[in-house]
Amino acid sequence: ANVLTKDTRGRPLRDLRISVTDRCNFRCTYCMPKEIFDKNYPYLSHNELLSFEEITRLTTIFASLGVEKIRLTGGEPLLRKNLEVLIEMLAKIRSISGQPLDLTLTTNGSVLRKKAVALKAAGLQRLTISLDGLNEHIFKKMNDVDFPVTDVLDGIAAAQEAGFTNLKVNMVVKKGTNDQEIIAMAKHFKGGGITLRFIEFMDVGSSNGWDMSQVLPSQEVADRINAIFPIEPIEANYPGEVAQRWRYIDGSGEIGFISSVTQTFCHECTRARISTDGQLYLCLFANEGFDFKTLLRSGKSDLEIANAIMTTWAGREDHYSEIRGSNTIDLKGIRKVEMSYIGG
Ligand code: GTP
Ligand code: 5AD
Ligand code: SF4
Ligand code: SF4
Repeated sequence: ANVLTKDTRGRPLRDLRISVTDRCNFRCTYCMPKEIFDKNYPYLSHNELLSFEEITRLTTIFASLGVEKIRLTGGEPLLRKNLEVLIEMLAKIRSISGQPLDLTLTTNGSVLRKKAVALKAAGLQRLTISLDGLNEHIFKKMNDVDFPVTDVLDGIAAAQEAGFTNLKVNMVVKKGTNDQEIIAMAKHFKGGGITLRFIEFMDVGSSNGWDMSQVLPSQEVADRINAIFPIEPIEANYPGEVAQRWRYIDGSGEIGFISSVTQTFCHECTRARISTDGQLYLCLFANEGFDFKTLLRSGKSDLEIANAIMTTWAGREDHYSEIRGSNTIDLKGIRKVEMSYIGG
């Protein structure tokens, strides 16, 4: 098999993001607004989810095609029962260069205190925690379930105690809702060895009421921080890195900006996503996936599945963020898949 298959825009397949559950105990207004994700919401039932064996098989095949990085997402991935068992299975997979995969996970941190040691022992390499503010009132307004900020901070501490280094914290910035927390967040994480990253509020899914007036461009976030703690840009860790990296000039660490609205990064996007029920999505903003669950359950060989992945990837044209920039109005009515299902 040709392991270096590129899509129609010359982009190779390097990263796989796997949503392990479509459920979450938070109701962040930008992701799972509670008016829509209420008790009547049609969450997937257990037999619709990919099993750990199916996820492991699929990941092994993706790795044989050049994927080097796996991110487990959701929903809240730590709500998936025995997730550490899946991590142990995935940690055994090797990339085509013979290395273990870069195995990482994005969590809201709510149950991290209970899970951190098991995650580390299972072979999870890195961890990213979402946290949208330090002020109790503002944080609760963002998670919309009255979840206290102290528990997330304690989860972060638990991860550090368990031996995770290179922790990242993601803050989605909604102008007028939590942007007053930017400096407090920078100050809190500065000098502590944790990389804080600011994410522009995006128009993912069809339910979060996105509009441009609630986006604070990363440039403005950077200006606000620079005015208090001077920063300068630094080189990307790898080509196509989502976040732009900056460092504090006083040497107290780095921060990042994820600017999918004002500075798109589709031209280097090497990411595929597997939804909770095994659909392959070629873009965060796609409205349709490719049904790999049925393929997995129909007795196909690994080679047949690998070929199906390559054919799908070879036809990939997606570059949504670039289109959005030039064409916002026309795209408004389009139904897009929800991020909790496809995986952030
Ligand atoms: P590392 O660099 O490996 O730490 O990870 P990352 O930056 O790829 O990962 P992370 O999951 O922390 O991504 C942070 C956020 O960036 C996600 O939650 C999304 O909001 C956004 N993001 C990630 N990938 C994409 C993408 O392909 N397109 C868009 N538009 N946004 C993305
Ligand atoms: N805009 C930007 N980021 C989002 N996330 C979810 N919804 C959005 C959105 N509308 C991302 C955040 C969060 C992760 C789980 O998903 O980064 O930390
Ligand atoms: Fe849950 Fe994360 Fe979505 Fe918030 S952003 S609702 S924590 S999946
Ligand atoms: Fe990749 Fe789609 Fe995000 Fe562009 S919008 S970076 S193509 S996932």
